[in-house]
Amino acid sequence: MEANYKSVNDSRQGLTPNHPYGAGDPYYAESTGYITPQAAKKRGISNWIKIGVPVLILIIVAAVLGGVLGSRASKNDSASSNGASGADSNSPDGSGNSNVDLADSRFATATDSQWLEPLYPSTTNTAVLTTPTFRPTSNDVLSWPQDPFTFSNPSPTSLRTDRPRLIAPAYKWQALPALISNDPYLRGWNDTIFANATRYYNEPPVQYFMDGPSGILDNARDVKRRIKTFGYAYRMTNDTRWVDRTWTELQNAANNGSDPWGSPPDMNDLWNKNHFLDTAELSAAFGIAYDFFYDIWTDEQKSMIRFTLLKYGLQPGLLVYTDPSAATYGWWTNNITGNWNCVSNGGLILGSLAILGDDDTGTAEAILSHAIDNAKQNCAFGVTSDGTWKETPNYWYFGCTGHAEMSSALLTATGSDYGLSDVNPDFGKTGLFHMYSNGPGSLFSWGDHGPNKYSSTANCMFHYANQYQQPSYALFQRDQHDAPEPWSMFWYDAKTGGAFWNGAPLDHFFDDVNDQWASMRTSWTDNDAFLINIKAGRNDDHQTHNDLDCGDFVMDALGTRWFGDLGSADYRSPDYFSSGDQDAVRWQYYRKMTEGQNTILINRKNQLVSASPTVRHDSTNEAQGSSTVYTVPQDSTAFFVADMSSAYDDAQTVMRGIRFLNGRRQALLQDEINASGTVDWRVHTNATVETSGTSATLKLDGQQLKITMLDPPEGATFATGAAERFASDVTPPVPDQPNPGVTVLSVSLPAGQYTLQMLINPSWPGMKDSDFVTPKTVPLAQWDLRSHD
Ligand SMILES: *[C@@H]1O[C@H](CO)[C@@H](O)[C@H](O)[C@H]1NC(C)=O
Ligand SMILES: *[C@@H]1O[C@H](CO)[C@@H](O)[C@H](O)[C@H]1NC(C)=O
Ligand SMILES: *[C@@H]1O[C@H](CO)[C@@H](O)[C@H](O)[C@H]1NC(C)=O
Ligand SMILES: *[C@@H]1O[C@H](CO)[C@@H](O)[C@H](O)[C@H]1NC(C)=O
Ligand SMILES: *[C@@H]1O[C@H](CO)[C@@H](O)[C@H](O)[C@H]1NC(C)=O
Ligand SMILES: *[C@@H]1O[C@H](CO)[C@@H](O)[C@H](O)[C@H]1NC(C)=O
Ligand SMILES: *[C@@H]1O[C@H](CO)[C@@H](O)[C@H](O)[C@H]1NC(C)=O
Repeated sequence: MEANYKSVNDSRQGLTPNHPYGAGDPYYAESTGYITPQAAKKRGISNWIKIGVPVLILIIVAAVLGGVLGSRASKNDSASSNGASGADSNSPDGSGNSNVDLADSRFATATDSQWLEPLYPSTTNTAVLTTPTFRPTSNDVLSWPQDPFTFSNPSPTSLRTDRPRLIAPAYKWQALPALISNDPYLRGWNDTIFANATRYYNEPPVQYFMDGPSGILDNARDVKRRIKTFGYAYRMTNDTRWVDRTWTELQNAANNGSDPWGSPPDMNDLWNKNHFLDTAELSAAFGIAYDFFYDIWTDEQKSMIRFTLLKYGLQPGLLVYTDPSAATYGWWTNNITGNWNCVSNGGLILGSLAILGDDDTGTAEAILSHAIDNAKQNCAFGVTSDGTWKETPNYWYFGCTGHAEMSSALLTATGSDYGLSDVNPDFGKTGLFHMYSNGPGSLFSWGDHGPNKYSSTANCMFHYANQYQQPSYALFQRDQHDAPEPWSMFWYDAKTGGAFWNGAPLDHFFDDVNDQWASMRTSWTDNDAFLINIKAGRNDDHQTHNDLDCGDFVMDALGTRWFGDLGSADYRSPDYFSSGDQDAVRWQYYRKMTEGQNTILINRKNQLVSASPTVRHDSTNEAQGSSTVYTVPQDSTAFFVADMSSAYDDAQTVMRGIRFLNGRRQALLQDEINASGTVDWRVHTNATVETSGTSATLKLDGQQLKITMLDPPEGATFATGAAERFASDVTPPVPDQPNPGVTVLSVSLPAGQYTLQMLINPSWPGMKDSDFVTPKTVPLAQWDLRSHD
């Protein structure tokens, strides 16, 4: 099929009211999305083959961007609400005359205001997307040239001879302007990066601020983000004002600026090595500055940058591998399979690679001889056998940024990443973990959320798309709000045409014993989709970033999140991170204790840290097609059942199951409990809740959802309360954070044996009362795909 080269530079501005930064933000101002001649190239295979869904059929789908805008403006008449529309995703629209290969425009041109999730066209109208949508083109206009430098026998100390050597080599800078002019994503990101550079330019240098448990990490990441951005602006323009501004920032973080770099307790430790992430991020920042501006720094400036980088970063850094007395701040080298290891080794590697060859102290070379191996043994195993980041979905951002930066920098500087990408054969699945963690209501954000992200993004997805031949990772990430960033410009392969959702299974089950979680949804592209993400898994071995939360779940529908997580408590709270043992103070804080989760509480006691649940699940295995409008078949379903008995002291049995019913328009949450202590069923919601005996009506964001108890046990009625601890709980060392706007919907019962069945009915537009079903009671042990028909 031949595409028409039609401009789709249309009324997308209609989306700006939803835009968090206001109309005129460059992320929106661009997006001209001209359809380029490359659209004609159509050839490819599904990249979901690894998870078993080849895409072979030709599907034609419609979505005219103009039409989309109208419908998004008014949520209630969105044609995309699950199940409520009769939209036939498989029929050509018939209009014939504006066949737009959506792969060649910047497709999701806005994000929703609340969660910054991309908004995709949601009406069938006149634009057409055809499969195969994975369409690598061989067109040179979108290709990076061949690296002129060949590494015959890679070694960490045998370097490419030109600069920059970190992540963005010179030949890519030379090619970039042409790629930008031919690719709408690169074009938009370039604009946003320049706008950010200008904004940072006009701000004073980053102020040192010691916030306690996170040290000066925000400052360090802010410096790194600025330097990357200034470096980008400089190399794209040769305008020396970016050089001067970078120098000012470096001087400031070296305490040589016109104002002091805060008041560090130890003037010989400006970068706070005792919270080594800070040291590592500043080392990366100085390394990038050294390398990106290498051609323009004077020898004296280079020597000053090296001096500061060595003194406050690399020299204390080397000791963590060589001097046992440095273990107090180098503990993260020892069996820490989490973001600390990735970020810390990563920063030291970037800083070392930058000055290698100019460093006559031997420090950089010595660091490389330790840091790469250390990262391979630890950082690379932050990913479990199913691709899940062990810490939490939010900590994945820090870990993957550190991992991708060091892998990429080693590749560009020396020609190999020495196994960082494949020493853990399951690492490449981590892009799937990130995609399924995301829903229309944002992340399934169990456990701690982490500090501000600043220089940490999900753009490792672009690097992993290349490393693991998973174009869908790049296709997913390119529509995300955090895509515009210098690394994306070099990691993104503009030849990756297509739609990540095309052939994407709706459901995925992550079975590693560490996490055991399920993601089940009705669509990848409908902001109103029905999504259930639920976990069981272990309550330990998450680097003390988890909650005691087997059975916890989130639920999105009708464009909002009905049940969500409370996130981090205050990291400054005493003993927040000291221990994950059963009696740890951490578990006294409401947001970390079982009470603060969407799960079952027995005897008003925390779940056991030693929990080892077992799970069972199944799915009818639908995959979305090329259309952004997708309606599941009526017999489509998926379920997840966890035996969580091992998480409880005072219960013989606690089983939880959740499933879709009625063509995924309803859900059933069922708990089977035999407890010798009291039973509390609890969920946390931002909705206003009205209860009436055994039913509850939730209202949120102009939408409604109803929960009805089926076959309620005697005495079971819904109650509501504040999201705060019971008076009978142990009092933590400092008061909990309030959870304003959050209501706990609960059912409390004495010790005994119960089956609690909660039928969950979102009020889909156009769905009549008679369209809802009431399922029969089926014990969890007998749940299967057809058990509720
Ligand atoms: C990148 O963006 C800047 C600012 O919008 C613009 O001036 C420049 O021309 C863009 N670069 C390319 C290659 O298009
Ligand atoms: C910047 O200078 C370099 C080196 O002289 C040159 O190769 C490059 O084309 C220049 N870039 C711009 C945007 O002027
Ligand atoms: C900061 O000042 C110290 C002391 O004069 C000097 O040794 C160092 O090179 C300077 N570093 C930078 C980045 O200016
Ligand atoms: C490393 O940590 C894991 C738990 O995170 C533990 O099971 C394992 O025994 C530790 N290994 C060593 C060598 O300490
Ligand atoms: C650019 O600015 C936007 C809006 O403030 C921000 O969300 C984004 O993180 C910035 N990106 C970079 C790379 O600094
Ligand atoms: C409440 O809404 C916020 C986002 O606006 C979300 O992060 C949080 O998880 C929600 N809380 C609950 C309990 O649903
Ligand atoms: C419920 O648990 C008690 C022990 O607390 C046990 O005696 C009883 O047999 C259990 N009931 C069932 C049906 O498993």
